[in-house]
Amino acid sequence: MPTLEIPNALVQTLRNAKQVAVLTGAGISAQSGVPTFRDAQTGLWARYDPEELATAEAFQRNPKLVWDWYAWRRELVAKAKPNEGHLALVKLEHRLPTLTLITQNVDGLHRQAGSRRVLELHGDLFRSKCFKCNLKIESWEDTGVSPPPCPCGQSWLRPDVVWFGEMLSAATLQEAEEAAARCDVFLSIGTSSLVYPAAELPFTALYAGATLVEINPQPTPLSNHVHFNLQGTAAQVLPELVNATWGYAC
Ligand code: OAD
Ligand code: ZN
Repeated sequence: MPTLEIPNALVQTLRNAKQVAVLTGAGISAQSGVPTFRDAQTGLWARYDPEELATAEAFQRNPKLVWDWYAWRRELVAKAKPNEGHLALVKLEHRLPTLTLITQNVDGLHRQAGSRRVLELHGDLFRSKCFKCNLKIESWEDTGVSPPPCPCGQSWLRPDVVWFGEMLSAATLQEAEEAAARCDVFLSIGTSSLVYPAAELPFTALYAGATLVEINPQPTPLSNHVHFNLQGTAAQVLPELVNATWGYAC
């Protein structure tokens, strides 16, 4: 793939930035082999719409179907490794220790890559909680019962992720909003910018005067609002951006 020209003005802006905030979506994990949320589903799951599986109503209607879908996603993610895009963000944090990395992903790949300050807006695929009593469970025994029962005896375990129609953790969202409001540069990477409130964050940054940068091979509803549109994949563009700004040795 030809190397992408990183605009000099962006390099200068990044070098001078005191505060940087980053928002990532499923696109950053695409090159780790994790299908993006809105990609066509494959195999057994091809006939299901993810937006119709990721709801409390779907779980209530058919808990086994929803649990099995998440178990399948968990298996896919368990085999995945962070890619060059995740690793470039670890370097960025070394350069800018005040970096806030906000992610919509539930795959844990930013933490696995070594990023320290990660705000996981939509939860964590590898944690569960009770559908009724909300007890959080880090690990559970797979007895083949799907979904596993909660120790409270009242209901089942569900993945500890945010479903459509559910609220995000207020504290995590507030931290993300504050980071967006105070940053000099905001990077939106690999997200379709369709799902709120995450899709609001770049606008919070923009209205507070930040420079907006998008990294995505496809245009999104955000594209017309950004100062720099780096059209390409995260695994290609992010290392180039970090290297153009601070050199390969960083
Ligand atoms: P989407 O699946 O909606 O969008 C993925 C984006 O990544 C698209 O804009 C693609 O063009 C882009 N993309 C694909 N490959 C890429 C690559 N290699 N590098 C960079 N970008 C690439 O995923 P999200 O925007 O993350 O929420 O979706 C947001 C939320 O919608 C998800 O967190 C999920 C879903 O509802 C919950 O589960 C609560
Ligand atoms: Zn319970």
